[in-house]
Amino acid sequence: MIQRYFPQGVAEEDFFCNREKEREFISKSILSHEHIVLVAPRRYGKTSLIAQVLRENDFPGISIDLLFVLDQAQVTRLISDSVSQLINQMLPKSTTVAKKIVDTLAALNPKVGFNILGQRLEINIKQPSERSISELLLILDQFATKSETPCVIAFDEFQQIGELKENHAIEASIRHAVERSKYVSYIFSGSNRHLLNEIFSDKTRPLYHLCDLMKLDRIKAESYRMFLTNLAKTRWKHGITEDVFSEITNITKCHSYYVNTLCRRLWQGAKVPQLADVLNTWDNYVEQQSYWIIKDFGRLTLTQRKLLTALALTPTSEPHSEAFSTSAKMTASTIQKTLQTLQKMDFVYQDHDGYYNVLDPAIAYFIRKHFSKF
Ligand SMILES: Nc1ncnc2c1ncn2[C@@H]1O[C@H](COP(=O)(O)OP(=O)(O)O)[C@@H](O)[C@H]1O
Ligand SMILES: [Mg+2]
Repeated sequence: MIQRYFPQGVAEEDFFCNREKEREFISKSILSHEHIVLVAPRRYGKTSLIAQVLRENDFPGISIDLLFVLDQAQVTRLISDSVSQLINQMLPKSTTVAKKIVDTLAALNPKVGFNILGQRLEINIKQPSERSISELLLILDQFATKSETPCVIAFDEFQQIGELKENHAIEASIRHAVERSKYVSYIFSGSNRHLLNEIFSDKTRPLYHLCDLMKLDRIKAESYRMFLTNLAKTRWKHGITEDVFSEITNITKCHSYYVNTLCRRLWQGAKVPQLADVLNTWDNYVEQQSYWIIKDFGRLTLTQRKLLTALALTPTSEPHSEAFSTSAKMTASTIQKTLQTLQKMDFVYQDHDGYYNVLDPAIAYFIRKHFSKF
């Protein structure tokens, strides 16, 4: 049971922390039928946030994970399965009413096969093509409109579409459906800002200017306070001390994935963790990750490594100042250029206070610990 406290995967229910403003914003957008592009680096909590919004609201919704799709046929199949599943969720209990609705849909879409077996509807496209995607999505909209039920489709890791050979055709097909939808709201989320920007902001691309952009930041330390205190009380009947709380949020820099990784280990202990437990647990964990960290670090050029090391040692709000330039032993123009690249690659981020930091707290810690070797 303890493992459930800080899951490695999607955070749910009591183990979901805050995100109140974001949840409200997404719910409102869905109800007013607006579409959203949700962007944040990997493991910030996009999938968990969408799951939470879908779970806590009455509207039916489904999240489609595109991380592993390799071609258009797979995308079409995923969408077809998801649309069938969503319609099945919304199908009226009465078989006669359900059948009537399905008959209307069939009449509107002669190229699509509809089978209703008891309470389950199956949809199959007779001649799949790139237009099938919009056909399927529009069928969902027709259904939602008939039953006057707003519903949601979330495309998770949407930037993967941009990587496929048929990317433009798929984007155009999705745009066609999104523009015409009356009751279906869309969320497009992803971690590769560069690719998502290209898909949604490039004037030559079909999804240009269709959605509101929402950037997901880190959860603030203050929001973690009650959350961690409550979970500590459930576990040991005692809260954690202030220095333990500060160290957890400081060492992980409130990166959701790492807060969970560290706390999952701490919460396995029989007693409330002390400061030394936090430091040792984190140190052991980062050392276990050294293979990945060294591999990631090794992908960078020498200049990039130099800047990353300087930022791991001293995060700064003034990377272009003479003081930073001197301590990093790099010219201001090299810093500027390299900083941009490192931000684009999600190695560096700017925090709430304007400081540039190494994005991954495990990498930052590893660099600080082994500084002389870098
Ligand atoms: N609001 C939250 N409360 C608690 N844990 C969270 C929250 N959001 C994310 N996490 C945790 O952070 C990690 C990454 O979350 P995930 O939703 O998979 O991120 P993403 O989809 O951005 O890659 C997981 O371990 C998840 O349980
Ligand atoms: Mg995700």
